[in-house]
Order: sequence, then C-alpha cells, then structure tokens
Amino acid sequence: MASRVERDPASDYRRLHAAYQQSLRYAEDVRRLYHQLQRAICQSLLGLANALEAKDPYTRGHSERVAALSRRVASALGLGSVVVDTVGQAGLLHDIGKIGVPEAILKKPGPLSPEEWEIMRAHPVIGAQIVAPFEFFGDAARVIRHHHERWDGSGYPDGLVRETIPLEARIVAVADVFDALTSARSYRPALTREAARAQLVEEAGRTLDETAVAALLGVLELEER
Ligand SMILES: [Fe+2]
Repeated sequence: MASRVERDPASDYRRLHAAYQQSLRYAEDVRRLYHQLQRAICQSLLGLANALEAKDPYTRGHSERVAALSRRVASALGLGSVVVDTVGQAGLLHDIGKIGVPEAILKKPGPLSPEEWEIMRAHPVIGAQIVAPFEFFGDAARVIRHHHERWDGSGYPDGLVRETIPLEARIVAVADVFDALTSARSYRPALTREAARAQLVEEAGRTLDETAVAALLGVLELEER
C-alpha cells in the first residue's frame, strides 16, 4: 500500500510565491529588453536623420531641438507621459523622410520648381513609411505623416483641417516652425526669438493651432525666466 505523502501548506505556498516572483522578474526583463530594443531602433533612425542634417549646416541639430521643444509643449498641455514620449520620438524623426529627397533639391539655394516642390512635399509620407514597420512607432508614424498639415487646411499631405489633425502633429508643427524661424537658412538669417514669437502669434488660429502656440509661448517664457 502506498504511503500518503504529507503536504506542507506553508512550503507549498513558499514554492508558489517563489515561482510568482520569478515570473515577475522575467516579465520585468522582457519589458526592459523591449524598451532597449525600442531605444536602439530609435537611435539608429536618429543616426540616419543626423547623417542627413550633418550634410547641411542650416539644419544641424534641428531634430533634437524640435524633439525637446515638442516634449515640453506636450507636457505643458497636460498630456500623459506615453503621449509626451510619442511626441518626442516623432519630433526626433519628423524629417527622416527627407532621406528620400535628392540632395540637389534639399540644398537648392533658390526657390523650388513645382516638380521639385512636389518631391519635397513627399517627405512626411516617406518618413511615416520608414518608421511604420516598427510596431512601437505606430503613433509616431501618424504624427510624422501629418507634421506639415496646417490648421486652415493649407498643409500637406492630406489637407486636414483643425482638430482632424492629430494634436501631437499640431504640437510638432509649432515646434518645427519656431525652430526653423530661429535658425539661419541659406536665403535668410535667423530671426530673433522675439520676432519668431511675433510670427507664431500671427499664425495662431490661421495655419497653427492656437492652443499649441499658447503652450509653446508659455514654455519659452518659463525658459527665459
Ligand atoms: Fe518636415
């Protein structure tokens, strides 16, 4: 006759608890690796974007500045950390699609011909396509696609108007315009912050989202204190 094995509930519980703790550690490892992978891919894409900027002294550092400013504007608007991160990633990579635009067009000192302009205007769509295969950049891809939409519908690629433009894209647009205005270009010197601010106020409610402009002005004011 088989002898009955005495069960010790306390040791059963300890074993179960240890297994549970172990699975929590595995889950944490997976989460960390996932974020590391996400960061690594973001860094590689940023490397591509920087390689593009490095060739053009007028846009050097633009992506990083737009990313930092976009994040601050998103926070000022009270958006959650996940959205703030999406806005930051999209800010970093917003012009990555310019990789698909010939250098002769990117650096043309004079005005673009209608054909050249059409190629240039493809960069938000190309950028979204570059980023889209990475599942965790799905939201950022949407923001990249729409960063040249304008509040009054005059933007591209889809001519979206007002709130139909994703809020994150309206934020990146405001940061992008401010940084472009305060940076020198081959055809004009950099505007002072004061002049750039005045131009943003003029565009608020016209081509730029008024709320995003107000938030950006607030961020600048805090910076200058
Ligand atoms: Fe752009």
